Amino acid sequence: MNNLLRRKVVLMPGDGIGGAVLKETVKVLRAVKFECDYVHADIGWEFWRTEGNPLPDRTLKSLRENKLSLFGAITSKPKWEAAEELVPRLKNKGLVYYSPIVGARQSLQLSECIRPCLSFEGNPLNFVRQKSGGGFEEPPINTVIFRQNTEGLYAGVEWTNPPRNVRQAFESHPKFGIFKDVKGEELAISTRIFTQERCNSICREAFEYAKKHGYKRVTIAEKPNVIRETSGMLEKTAYRIGKEYPDIWVDSNNIDAICMWLTKNPESYGVIIAGNMFGDIISDAFAGLVGGLGFACSANIGSEVAIFEPTHGSAPKYASYKTSIVNPIACILSGAMMLDHVGETHKADLIRKGIAKVIKEGKYRTYDLLKVKGQQNVIYNGAVSTEDMGSAIVEAIGDVEASAKYY
Ligand code: NAI
Ligand code: MG
Repeated sequence: MNNLLRRKVVLMPGDGIGGAVLKETVKVLRAVKFECDYVHADIGWEFWRTEGNPLPDRTLKSLRENKLSLFGAITSKPKWEAAEELVPRLKNKGLVYYSPIVGARQSLQLSECIRPCLSFEGNPLNFVRQKSGGGFEEPPINTVIFRQNTEGLYAGVEWTNPPRNVRQAFESHPKFGIFKDVKGEELAISTRIFTQERCNSICREAFEYAKKHGYKRVTIAEKPNVIRETSGMLEKTAYRIGKEYPDIWVDSNNIDAICMWLTKNPESYGVIIAGNMFGDIISDAFAGLVGGLGFACSANIGSEVAIFEPTHGSAPKYASYKTSIVNPIACILSGAMMLDHVGETHKADLIRKGIAKVIKEGKYRTYDLLKVKGQQNVIYNGAVSTEDMGSAIVEAIGDVEASAKYY
């Protein structure tokens, strides 16, 4: 391929364990011979402290230019703590910390977040259920959450002590009556804003995905009976668009009810659509049934740029370990999602098969898979390191390829 035309992937390790899991992901992408050049971009705490911006403009520029990115994790802290950690020359300048990944989603309009939760056979962390006649069963889970990624409670339109005109606007709503005597500094308001355009696009993407991958059910996970305007808009949109997909069953479950049902019959869910906050919650809840944060992958998709990331954070308590112990699979699965996104499905499947083989054989397990407390010494007690897990997956990919050739 001509060097100028060669695809570039922006690597954003970020903070804490982000770098360690990203390194293994690149190793696996090289093993399946994904052709690209990698370019580094700065994001995270160091850039907040020293530049007053955890998402420097040069990073946004690189993302816009190169369009594809793999991201590790960042550390976020409450705004007052963040302000304390600024280097002296930036202190007291009115700089306010904002999560750079939430910022990137908004600046680049990455309005859809896809979070697949798929159980791997043999994963000791899989959900098991007691059978009515005694004994246990392990239902295979294959749920994909479509979370609206830029609006709702994450849009950041919020105030403590709202300015007078905002307060007046709220006071014009009859239901605000019970708050009217609350003092400004004792009143915090976070708004939940949905737009028809984004409801349309998240629903359209979810149904198209369901159709393409053969899912028979699309469920809206909101609370339209209480949050009538926003949840109502998303629910109505899903039912309207769902009519164009006669082979797919569309239903609506309240978010709280799903949180109860998902430990009863999680295998009955296919694609789930939710707004930003509920999508975040329900995807973590499902991730817990298929191995937890070490397995939870995600894609942030916009019309131009796409960023792929594990859903876990920077796990600061493990970041300083000399040998990293965390599970890189969530990040590696996010890398496979990137391959799906650019149409390299065969290579993506190869990665998933390699992971499936490692999990099923059970010879290499990071500490989370052994269900032990994460400490540096776990690697002397049977757990593999982040790096060794990456290598085991690379080796398994080789085996999968070799046996595919043989047959
Ligand atoms: P976290 O996801 O970093 O860690 C929670 C716990 O999950 C860890 O202590 C560890 O036991 C486990 N864990 C996480 N990743 C793992 C992995 N790959 N393998 C094995 N175990 C793993 O969440 P926490 O502790 O709430 O937040 C830490 C920092 O990360 C905070 O500053 C938070 O704001 C930030 N964060 C960043 C996110 C992002 O970059 N997208 C998402 C979530 C949190
Ligand atoms: Mg989350």
